[in-house]
Parts: sequence; C-alpha cells; structure tokens
Amino acid sequence: MKLRSIELSLPDPAAAAAFMVDIWGLVPAEVRGTAHYLRGSGAYPYLVAFEQGEEFVRSTTFVCGEDELAGVKARVIEKGWAARPVVSADPGGGHGLLVELPEGELLRFLTDSAEVAPIAGYEKKSRRVMPVKLTHVVFNAADAEASGHAVEDVLGFRVSDRTAGMVFVRCNESHHSTAFARAGFSSLNHIAFEMDDLDTVMRGIGWMRDNGFAPAWGPGRHGPGDNVYAYYIAPFGPVIEYSTPVEKVPADYAAGKPEDWTWPEKRIDQWGVSDKDFAGLREAEQRFRFRRDWESQPLDD
Ligand SMILES: [Fe+2]
Repeated sequence: MKLRSIELSLPDPAAAAAFMVDIWGLVPAEVRGTAHYLRGSGAYPYLVAFEQGEEFVRSTTFVCGEDELAGVKARVIEKGWAARPVVSADPGGGHGLLVELPEGELLRFLTDSAEVAPIAGYEKKSRRVMPVKLTHVVFNAADAEASGHAVEDVLGFRVSDRTAGMVFVRCNESHHSTAFARAGFSSLNHIAFEMDDLDTVMRGIGWMRDNGFAPAWGPGRHGPGDNVYAYYIAPFGPVIEYSTPVEKVPADYAAGKPEDWTWPEKRIDQWGVSDKDFAGLREAEQRFRFRRDWESQPLDD
C-alpha cells in the first residue's frame, strides 16, 4: 500500500497549478477539463490534482495490490462505512474503492493504476528543485485516537507513534504516510512532498525565498519520522511541506507514546533553529474540509 496523490477542488486550479509548477517545483502532467494534474520526478502519473469548484478535499489516493484492496473492501463492508466502487478517470487509471472515514476523510484505494517513467537528471546547479512524490498527507481530527484505531481496524494501517499532538500512521515500511492531528476539528492539516535529500529541501527553501516566500515553520527535523521539514502556506490555501524521506521502520516497530516524545523547554523539533507561525498555520489548516459529493453504494458485485 502506498500513498500516491491528493485531489483538491478549488476556485482557481490554473493559478494553483502555476504556483506549484513555477515556484514549488512540480511538473505539469496533464489538463483534463478543468482538472490540472501535476507530477513529481518519481513514477506516479500525478501527485496533485486541482479541479475547479469550491474549496474542499475530493480524495486522497493510495495504490495497492488486489489482495490489499480485497481486504479493505471486506472490512469496509463489515463496518458499514460509506463507500463506493470507483474506476479512476484520472491519469494512470485503475479501479478500486472510495471510502469515507468516520470523520469524513475521503480515501481512495486503487489497484492496476499505471506508472510513468521517472524524470532523472535535472540540473542540480540550477535553483530549481523537483519533489519526487508525496511522503505524507496529514489530517486534523476531532478524535485522533479514534481515527487511528479506525484505520488500523478497517484499512489495515498501523499506528507508528503517538505524540501530544499527533497519531502517526503507516501503511508500509515508511514511518507514516498519514497522521491525525489532535485538532478538535476535521480538515486537511498538510500535504508533504518528498525531496531527494536534505540538500534538496534546503535548496527548495532558498528557491522559495528567492520568490518571496518564507517558511511558516522550519527548517527543522521532526522527532517521529526523523524527517527534515519546511512548511509553507500556499497562496491558494493549504499548508504544504518540503520533506526528506521519513525513516523506515520494521513491521514489529513498537509504537511510542506521548511521554516517549517530549522536548526540552523551547524546543518542538530536534534542531531548534526556526520559529513556527502557529496562528497562520492553524488558519490555513481550517480551509480545506472534506465533502462527500457521492452516494454510498454496495461494494458487493
Ligand atoms: Fe509533515
């Protein structure tokens, strides 16, 4: 199971796509109708889709094998979650399920979706950076503990760590592909783009600075996941992150508790070299909510 893409609805997809290509570093993949699809240097046909409409998260897409899909499907039926079968009309195609989590997050699971040739060898001496793929998409939750248990029970995900602020969840060997923030409300928390390495994250920060953007938080190095990060508030709303790959953990990784992840006074990351715009980030995190604009349908066929 792997995180592949996020599909957003927003009023001006062309402007959002222009920022994500010209400044953030993604590459145009395709335009279909009002939908702009953007890719990274990795093998996924796209990482973000912007479709014209009101502001909301249409879906977050995972790709998986037939067996994994069958397992998710059986447990979703057993729990009676809202869901429907889907055939993807997005680049890469594939088929599977669209599932609504208890707090409204919409996750899509696809199998048989195609990949594309990775992009190699862009000029490292240029200022340009290019994200590889998504490394995690984090959600705000009213009850992050319940969300963590729900995705363990129904989706087969595993909680990797619990902190005072987050429940980190993995769906493969990466420490987290998603997480639920203890926010008191449900929404998109942030979208994290995986960069090749620490140097690329830092060059991304420089390129953003050249273009007039300062991090809302970072650079820093997180505790859980051990990734280097820099968070920005995108001009079209959501919080986006440059990140190094999160650490890989073994299948029997023992989930840490909040008391295992504490910081010395004045610290909220390993380095302590940057400030965090708490108010700005919280405001941005409230913009993109989840909206199920489809009816639940039987999954048995
Ligand atoms: Fe993150």
